[in-house]
This record gives sequence, C-alpha cells and structure tokens, in this order.
Amino acid sequence: MRTQVGIIGAGPAGLLLSHLLHLRGISSVVLEKRSREYVERRVRAGVLEQGTVDTLVEAGVGERMSREGLPHHGIELRYGGAGHRIPFEKLVPGRAITVYGQQEVVKDLIAARLAAGGDVRFEVEDVAVHSLESEPYVTFGGERLDCDVIAGCDGFHGVSRPSVPEGVLSVFEREYPFAWLGILARVAPSSEELIYARTERGFALHSMRSPTVSRFYLQVPADARLEDWPDERIWAELKERLETVPGFELATGEITERGITPMRAFVTEPMQYGHLYLAGDAAHIVPPTGAKGLNLAVADVRVLTEALAAYFRDGSAELLDGYSEACLKRVWRAQHFSWWMTTLLHTFEEDDPYARRLQLSYLDYVTSSEAAATTLAENYVGLP
Ligand code: APR
Ligand code: PHB
Repeated sequence: MRTQVGIIGAGPAGLLLSHLLHLRGISSVVLEKRSREYVERRVRAGVLEQGTVDTLVEAGVGERMSREGLPHHGIELRYGGAGHRIPFEKLVPGRAITVYGQQEVVKDLIAARLAAGGDVRFEVEDVAVHSLESEPYVTFGGERLDCDVIAGCDGFHGVSRPSVPEGVLSVFEREYPFAWLGILARVAPSSEELIYARTERGFALHSMRSPTVSRFYLQVPADARLEDWPDERIWAELKERLETVPGFELATGEITERGITPMRAFVTEPMQYGHLYLAGDAAHIVPPTGAKGLNLAVADVRVLTEALAAYFRDGSAELLDGYSEACLKRVWRAQHFSWWMTTLLHTFEEDDPYARRLQLSYLDYVTSSEAAATTLAENYVGLP
C-alpha cells in the first residue's frame, strides 16, 4: 500500500500531524503498537500553552478542551512559608495556559481522525523503517507501506531515531538525581491554580484535571519504588510540603493512578535524516517541571505540517531542509526553561548550605522582580 506520509506513533505528535495533514489534503497512515484503549488511558502531563490551545482550536479538535479545560492566568511559587503568585494577566496579557489532560487531547484527536475516515492502526507489530535516503517504506506485521516521507512520532523508546545510521545524530542529555512520583486523586483541588512548592524535604506540585480530580507530584530519589510509597505516606508527604502557608489545608481522597517518572533531558540533532523527520519525544525529552513536553511536540508538528504542505504543493524542499533548525531554537529554549525551573525548585543532595541560600535568593528575586517574573511567565505560557 502507499501513502504520502507514514507516521509512526499515535501519541499527540503523530495524531495531530495526521490531522493537520488531512486538513491540507495530504494522506497519511498512523501506525501504533499499543491498543487504542491504552493510549487513551495513559496518564501524562496536562498543561497546554496558549499556542497549543490555538492550534487545537484551529484544527477543529478544541471543542471539548474549550468546554472542559481549565484556563489559568497564573501559578503559585510556594517556599519559605509563603506563597507568591506569578500573575500572567499582568505580566503576559492575553496569554494563559489551559489545564487539560494529555490523554484527553489524544482521545479528541483519535475521535477526529476516525470521524474524518483517517487511517490509524493500533496494536501494530514489528514496525521498522527502511531506505530513508530514497523511496522510504515502513514494514509492520508482514505488511509494507510505501510513502514519500516518514514521520517518527514514536517517542523516546521508538524505532525511528535508532534507525538513523550511526554517527549521523548528535545527542545531548542530562540525568537528574531524582524522579517525580505522580498521582491522580479523586478529590477536589485544594487550590484554584497550580502550586509549585520548594521545601527542604524536596519539591512538590499541586495540579488538577477537573473540579473533582487532582494531580500531584513529589520529588523522590531516582531509585524510589512505588511499593515503598503507600497512600498514607504519599498524602503525609504532600501535606508536609504543601501545608506550609497559614490557612492552607490539603484535601485528600482516593488515589486512582500513580507512577514514577525519571527526570531527564535529551535532545537529538538534527531532527531529520533523509526522508525521516522526528517530532516530539522521538527527538527531545524535557524534565516535566516546565510543562513543555506536550507543547514542544505540538510545536514540532506545526513546523513539519507547513514544510510538508509546501513540499507536496510545489515540490519545494526548503522548509523541509530547514525543519530541524526551525524546531531546535524552540527546543533549546524549552530545555533551558525546564532546567531553570528544575534547579530553582528542587533540592539537590549535593547542595551545601551556601547553594541552598543561593537558590532561595533567586526565588526571592523571581517573586519580587517584575522583569524576572515576566521571564518565567512568558516561557511558561509559551513564546509566540
Ligand atoms: N511502533 C509503533 N508505535 C510505537 C513504537 C513502535 N515501535 N514505539 C513507540 N510507539 C508509540 C507509543 O506507544 C506511543 O503511543 O509511539 C507513541 C509516542 O507517543 P508519546 O510518547 O506520547 O510521544 P509524543 O507524541 O511525541 O508526545 C510527547 O508525550 O511523553 C509525553 O511528556 C511527553 O507530553 C509529551 C508527549
Ligand atoms: C500536570 O498537570 O500533570 C503537570 C502540570 C505542570 C507540570 C507538570 C505536569 O509542570
């Protein structure tokens, strides 16, 4: 069989690319190794930048997000016994974030693809890409898909990136000496907006999914195991790290989902080889502190769609040739912001008292200087 764009992976990157190409009259086939049910239930992050919200609305897949998503115009940095709001409405007028689970975005995209007669195949086995230099094709489950271009949207552990010949790609990476223990809980959020808390015991984040579902994260050692964190211990530690300002009490409830996410950063350069283009986690990973992972994937796909539309319209490969360079500017900005938020708000065992003082003084600066707070706000809501 044949299509114009063979897409590996039905995460936000692959599904959105397939839909944006469809809107441009460009055919694609999406190959996903997991089941539909699995990808629609996989709990991940949930903060959408302004640009991501605009892209989903323009693509006609923003109706439920606009109805159920929670627009937020600020976040709180909590440390040293006080909370400090970063007011987006004042610092970056007209730009905000929307809290809406990544799996909800995936559900909306799958529904839109299938409603438009899109070819999305789940539980596909043994996907492999071939002949990337010329006349590329993908094999899977004994079948062959010939295509003009392959989009590697198969995440960090996918097959696309490793299929690039040795020595072509440069890799930049950083491992952090801790992880995030994340939970979903059936309890009303105890705060209107997200709380990023820095404490001597470690970082904590109070996020949410709806008026009845909350999302929390705790900084834990990199080798932490879930079995060592029974519900009571998780709630006790969240209370220790969040009930640090007068009058704030954390409501607790049934924990419905939990997981431990390693904290690492990763960038591959370039994000393309021959007729293969990498997008999203297949090309780059950020620690979740800056809430950039999903938004970077959407930004890559926006650039790739424009480039492919020009290529299929009049054969011009200029934008395709410039794909990596165009994306990597935003990728490295997000890498820096995510590193900055992570070092600002987490406790590092190797830090001596002097380093801890420096961290606190920087937090004092960010929460008292309008210029510094604006830097945080504009990166958080997403650069235009
Ligand atoms: N064959 C087919 N599909 C594959 C293969 C393979 N060999 N390997 C991985 N996949 C699928 C995965 O099952 C997953 O559904 O590719 C998809 C990749 O999706 P994501 O990991 O969600 O990556 P991406 O679409 O780039 O979205 C990035 O996901 O991890 C979060 O924080 C990250 O929010 C960011 C977002
Ligand atoms: C989430 O809601 O899952 C979330 C929010 C902010 C982050 C990371 C994750 O920085």
